[in-house]
Amino acid sequence: MRNDIEGILLSEAQIQARVKELGARLAEEYRDKNPVMICILKGSTMFFADLLRAMPIPLTMDFMAVSSYGRTTKSSGEVEIRKDLAGSIEHRHAIIVEDIIDSGFTLTYLSRMLSARGAKSIRICTLLDKPARRAPGITLKADYSGFEIPDAFVVGYGLDYAEMYRNLPYIGILKPEVYEKN
Ligand code: IMP
Ligand code: MG
Repeated sequence: MRNDIEGILLSEAQIQARVKELGARLAEEYRDKNPVMICILKGSTMFFADLLRAMPIPLTMDFMAVSSYGRTTKSSGEVEIRKDLAGSIEHRHAIIVEDIIDSGFTLTYLSRMLSARGAKSIRICTLLDKPARRAPGITLKADYSGFEIPDAFVVGYGLDYAEMYRNLPYIGILKPEVYEKN
């Protein structure tokens, strides 16, 4: 796998340190709110697991799966719910935990959809943000963001290309020849 990586953008130590900071901040702000933490499968799994273990407060977790890029590296702008939340978020403080914001389509759609379910508040916590890639007309901003990164396709720590590389403990830039040959 390492041969397909051009370079390491964020090391395991950098990620772990930043996730602990985010967790501490969320724990402070949500101390008495019993938030429902929403993991957007599958990309957020590693981030979600580490983030929640850095939040020593009462909370619950739920999971949702939405359509991904499939075997391409560009978003279609269409979002399909493949697995919905198991529980209600009515009257709850919800935090959507996402791996990366790219065009912003996915989270714009999701936060609108979840707002309609009567949550007390909805905030977005993303590990990575590529602000330069936001689609025209998308004004979405993360409430909590781990790292702003340049416009490159990255994998690891949950993020995939064609379902691969999610288990890398760091975030690396994928060699363009890997996706250009498909
Ligand atoms: P958006 O709707 O364009 O913001 O897309 C967000 C989703 O696209 C993320 O949840 C990822 O699944 C995927 N994505 C965007 N950029 C990357 C990347 O650099 N590597 C891996 N997946 C990405
Ligand atoms: Mg994703």
